[in-house]
Amino acid sequence: MGGTYMLIWILIICLSQVAVQSQYYSKSLPYHPKPVKVTNLHFFFHETLSSKNPTTVEIAQVNIPSNHNNSSVPFATLYALDDPLKIGPEHDSEVIGNAQGLTVLAGTNTTDAVMYVDFEFTSGKFKGSSISIFSRNPIREIEREVAVIGGRGQFKMATGFALLKAYFINDTNVIIEYNVTVIHY
Ligand SMILES: *[C@@H]1O[C@H](CO)[C@@H](O)[C@H](O)[C@H]1NC(C)=O
Ligand SMILES: *[C@@H]1O[C@H](CO)[C@@H](O)[C@H](O)[C@H]1NC(C)=O
Ligand SMILES: *[C@@H]1O[C@H](CO)[C@@H](O)[C@H](O)[C@H]1NC(C)=O
Ligand SMILES: *[C@@H]1O[C@H](CO)[C@@H](O)[C@H](O)[C@H]1NC(C)=O
Ligand SMILES: *[C@@H]1O[C@H](CO)[C@@H](O)[C@H](O)[C@H]1NC(C)=O
Repeated sequence: MGGTYMLIWILIICLSQVAVQSQYYSKSLPYHPKPVKVTNLHFFFHETLSSKNPTTVEIAQVNIPSNHNNSSVPFATLYALDDPLKIGPEHDSEVIGNAQGLTVLAGTNTTDAVMYVDFEFTSGKFKGSSISIFSRNPIREIEREVAVIGGRGQFKMATGFALLKAYFINDTNVIIEYNVTVIHY
């Protein structure tokens, strides 16, 4: 008899646990955000396109006739990047982070890229934190604005924007100045 009760109890406990786990959402509560802060970040994005150690590489390109016009920005080309972020534009300037992600050339008749890139900082107050940029980026314009749509660490739930300015461009090296306004908790 004792054994049967024990079994029933085990069954009840198991069922109650199943009941708890059968719900995938929590109760919705009022959201009380903490006061937001604004931080300005200023750095240079250093990209090496072709060398023994490129920081941006082409990983795929669609094969369609309109891409055979020798465009330097052919539509539907995908790049992977891991570019250093430095305090200044000089080659030997201090590295303060890196930008990892994807850029896809997404304009059929424009030189638009769309970037999906995580910018992580590796030194200073924001070491280990990152901002996420997911935005259209008209790469042939000298000045452009891209959207900051999130972040990690101290930049969790960040929003904001970055003003980009081409500082130096040749066939193998690109240096872009980033001036980012981040709104975060
Ligand atoms: C590429 O060249 C072809 C043939 O000259 C032309 O029809 C097409 O519009 C061009 N495409 C682009 C993207 O310039
Ligand atoms: C593209 O470049 C190749 C090699 O430089 C050349 O032979 C070809 O005519 C060019 N095509 C166009 C459409 O300009
Ligand atoms: C493509 O770009 C050219 C030059 O900027 C423009 O004249 C043409 O109207 C554009 N075509 C389309 C389909 O947007
Ligand atoms: C581009 O500029 C960099 C830095 O000044 C230089 O090292 C490199 O040789 C240049 N590349 C070309 C193709 O001129
Ligand atoms: C960065 O942009 C802000 C406006 O968003 C501007 O006030 C500031 O002067 C800019 N800083 C640099 C170094 O360009």
